[in-house]
Amino acid sequence: MIELRNVSYSYDNSFNALKDITLNIEPGEAVAFVGVNGSGKSTLMKIINGLVFPAGGTFSFDGIEITEKRLMDTSFAKAFHKRVGFVFQNSEAQLFCTTVYDEIAFGPRQMGMAEEEVKSRVEDILRLLHIEELAKRQPYHLSGGEKKKIAIASVLVLNPEVIVLDEPMNGLDPKTKRFLRELMIALNKAGKTILCSTHDFDYVQGIFKRAVVFSKEHTVIRDGSYEEIITDREFLIENNII
Ligand SMILES: Nc1ncnc2c1ncn2[C@@H]1O[C@H](COP(=O)(O)OP(=O)(O)O)[C@@H](O)[C@H]1O
Ligand SMILES: [Mg+2]
Repeated sequence: MIELRNVSYSYDNSFNALKDITLNIEPGEAVAFVGVNGSGKSTLMKIINGLVFPAGGTFSFDGIEITEKRLMDTSFAKAFHKRVGFVFQNSEAQLFCTTVYDEIAFGPRQMGMAEEEVKSRVEDILRLLHIEELAKRQPYHLSGGEKKKIAIASVLVLNPEVIVLDEPMNGLDPKTKRFLRELMIALNKAGKTILCSTHDFDYVQGIFKRAVVFSKEHTVIRDGSYEEIITDREFLIENNII
């Protein structure tokens, strides 16, 4: 479903972020992206979400190459963004409406859904995340954990097939981390593809079957069983991951 072929990317044509990345991800996989800060995890996630485009190589989704030109076609872009959702590392970058309700309703309204459908979807998601009481609040004034839940809600409300999360555990309290872990496991069990960068190995047990490890040179140095990689302390220490 997700196919990267020899993908390279550099910011402003001078700061390397990804080098020759080849990666296939099948529907229903749960994959952890691991690697030191600056190794390219976030850039890869932006490519998978069509926010930036490979400078070299290709990214294809369901056999169709995702290019800037193709995403300029509004109906193609809508269909793509409905299938692939992105939870940013910084929730604030993702929240801009005056109420939580409107925030979560924003995506469905953009997709042109009828207001009745929007309402039923938003209410379902508020219930799923146990945040019904936040519906009328201003996202800006919420706690970090609450903001993260709203950002996740605004992605889940479109019922995407692929959910990409950039270091979602960062800055959350332990209870919210446990909640998020359970949620990711449940979403994956329900058939969603989960792609997630993380440093927080204590709180992600049981989520991932596969890990892809990035080096500080922005290449993939290992791609395999999450359990095997995460218990290989020597490898993790050598690569500055723990
Ligand atoms: N907006 C940007 N402008 C210039 N360089 C950037 C920008 N974003 C990221 N980089 C650089 O690209 C490399 C990869 O960054 P990133 O994908 O954020 O890594 P990670 O998520 O693994 O920490 C780093 O060297 C980083 O400094
Ligand atoms: Mg990052």
